[in-house]
Amino acid sequence: MQPVISIRGLEKTYASGHQALKSIDLDITRGEIFALLGPNGAGKTTLISIICGLVTPTAGTIEAGGHDILREARKARSLIGLVPQELATDAFESVWATVNFSRGLFGLPPNPAFVEKLLRDLSLWEKRDARIMTLSGGMKRRVMIAKALAHEPKILFLDEPTAGVDVELRQDMWNMVRELRDSGVTIILTTHYIEEAEEMADRIGVIHRGQLVVVDEKNALMRKLGRRRLELHLQQPLERLPEDLAGWRLELTNDGHTLVYSFDVQQEATGIAELFRDLDRHGIDYKDLNSSQSSLEEIFVNLVRGRA
Ligand SMILES: Nc1ncnc2c1ncn2[C@@H]1O[C@H](COP(=O)(O)OP(=O)(O)OP(=O)(O)O)[C@@H](O)[C@H]1O
Ligand SMILES: [Mg+2]
Repeated sequence: MQPVISIRGLEKTYASGHQALKSIDLDITRGEIFALLGPNGAGKTTLISIICGLVTPTAGTIEAGGHDILREARKARSLIGLVPQELATDAFESVWATVNFSRGLFGLPPNPAFVEKLLRDLSLWEKRDARIMTLSGGMKRRVMIAKALAHEPKILFLDEPTAGVDVELRQDMWNMVRELRDSGVTIILTTHYIEEAEEMADRIGVIHRGQLVVVDEKNALMRKLGRRRLELHLQQPLERLPEDLAGWRLELTNDGHTLVYSFDVQQEATGIAELFRDLDRHGIDYKDLNSSQSSLEEIFVNLVRGRA
């Protein structure tokens, strides 16, 4: 399928000389939720700002909906909605006015019914006449989303949409994002809440120091890079591990009461039976065991740490 966004050889060096993006190649599939993860300063906002036409690239090409973002900037931009990381709104305007104004900026005719639905969906309808400066931070963020959606874009960028947003509103936003996706909108979001990516994303890209180090389906990423942990709660605490168990990736924790075995999700199964036999041979008995899969958070931290 034709990607909705296609990025080739993208580079960005700011006037300061700082190289914020290094040869980025990325295709975004129509209708997916793509989460861009990366530590502070990795280049996420720079990448989004370039696609949205707010920052000029140093090299490379980008097409959005088949339109080159530089040569056909207006066409490309009309397909895109952006909720920026920094909240910037006209403090003195009313919610209603500012959202309608955003729509008008793209040359669309007024559509009060559409804007009303948008504000209702974002629980802003009651606040339609309020000046933006009188709203709470979470409401202001929703106004930014309403503004971004006012011209009915096909591609929505959300740069840290839930930073500083309470749990309930975060859930509401996730639901809204899913509904948008179901209505055919492609969503690209950045987040520092890894559980958000884990919950929402179809695919994940990890960016580190301006390089896209991993792009993969979320489930594949968790399968490939994830580790499982097996915790054995021992009958008798061990002072230390017997030497000939050193070949296993075992760790003694909890004052010798717990033995932790971590392993690659891909390789295992066979190994475990063997481990149990080895433990048995040493008379190491356990009263309880549990296993867990490493979270996306752990995977992410390992990826980034490994490259620090
Ligand atoms: N206008 C600018 N001029 C010079 N350097 C900039 C500019 N904007 C960003 N940078 C630098 O480019 C790098 C990437 O910044 P960017 O804002 O894209 O990171 P980010 O991944 O969005 O980080 P965060 O998670 O903190 O939002 C940083 O080192 C930043 O200091
Ligand atoms: Mg940013």
